[in-house]
Amino acid sequence: MLLPVTYRVNDAGRMEVGGCDLVELARTYGTPLYVYDEETVRCRCREFVQALGERGEVLYSAKAFGSPGFLQVVAAEGLGLDVVSEGELYLALAAGYPTDRIHFLGNNKSREDVAAAYDAGATLVIDGFQEFDLLNSVVPQGSRLRCELRLSPGIRPETHDFIATGQLDSKFGFSIESGAARAAVEQALAHDRIELVGLHSHIGSQVFDLRGHLAAMEIVLDFLAGLRRDLGFEPERLGAGGGLGIAYTREDRPPSPAEFVTALLTALDQGIARRGLRTPLLVLEPGRAVAGPAGVALYTVGAIKDIPGVRRYVAVDGGMGDNIRPKLYGARYEAFLARDPEGVAAPPVTIAGKYCESTDILATDVPLPPVQTGDVLCIPAAGAYCLSMASNYNGMPRPAVVMVSEGEARLIRRRETFDDLLAAEIL
Ligand SMILES: Cc1ncc(COP(=O)(O)O)c(C=O)c1O
Repeated sequence: MLLPVTYRVNDAGRMEVGGCDLVELARTYGTPLYVYDEETVRCRCREFVQALGERGEVLYSAKAFGSPGFLQVVAAEGLGLDVVSEGELYLALAAGYPTDRIHFLGNNKSREDVAAAYDAGATLVIDGFQEFDLLNSVVPQGSRLRCELRLSPGIRPETHDFIATGQLDSKFGFSIESGAARAAVEQALAHDRIELVGLHSHIGSQVFDLRGHLAAMEIVLDFLAGLRRDLGFEPERLGAGGGLGIAYTREDRPPSPAEFVTALLTALDQGIARRGLRTPLLVLEPGRAVAGPAGVALYTVGAIKDIPGVRRYVAVDGGMGDNIRPKLYGARYEAFLARDPEGVAAPPVTIAGKYCESTDILATDVPLPPVQTGDVLCIPAAGAYCLSMASNYNGMPRPAVVMVSEGEARLIRRRETFDDLLAAEIL
């Protein structure tokens, strides 16, 4: 699934998502424009929730895209939420997210972070020993905060180095291998401000091959067996993180959310049965797999530069400021001509951004019908880790965002203005 579920070519031969013509949207709202298809967001949420059923809880990972207007749709589908900063929590509260469904993660929480999680009534996912002291200073005597511990299972999934998190050499979590995880559980159980409800791990992102997740599950269950034997402790909840990859190109074939959930549930059930453990609730926290396929980015073509025998550059009015992924991890994208998505492809072109960096390239050697200045290009699978990582580099205001559904578009984030660039500056 490269394009949103409601995608079709309309009678005018143009791309349509959520019943809205993408060329018209670009005209109405300007470009760069991010368009989210509400139906795709809901379908992706439902697929996770239905596959997991009563066996656990699905949290959406707000870091993938955390605009309040988007979070409201996810909340309405019944998902919990994973936030990693006071700022993400602030956005979630602005969205009216039910706070008992919020989990606060992060490897270097400040006292303010822990206090914000406590004040909101969120569950804290403890990532390092310093948080035990912070909890003493935040949680009043006689009270307890619901907490989980983030484990590092020592597994590196098949993904880019920069988005692998579960290996021994990682800044995240208590390592099982080094003994830190065991020491952390003992401290948490002895801590008078902690109600230890679960253990959590997350091994990486944009993962297609689920063997890493299954291997991590085995390691965590071995760890659980040791906890039960030595401490008599069995957690209510077991978090296996997010990480399910999505299709960015026509060749990508990621597992579906249902396949991901089923594989993890099967591994959990078999592992639990072999060790005679109590079955915990399985907690999953997808980000990319919910938001990614729902969003497309629209750009207007400006300069076209031919270098004979080398390549044709097609420059658009956005780039690394709204989508850093190609530059950050060498991510690949497809592109479509919004007025003629199925037109016969001319020789491949390279889509360049307008930022003052030679690495500001959105997609290299993509097939497109002949493109002219003023055309609208659509980059699919742009819903996750694009706008949430956006910057004002080169003094560029960040794009607007619309949510489309049944022929209606609603603006959920306005385009930034030059005054926004000055908002925090002191003259
Ligand atoms: C702890 C944790 N949970 C969940 C996620 C979401 O991952 P993804 O967007 O790949 O599903 C991340 C992202 O890296 C993460 O660090």
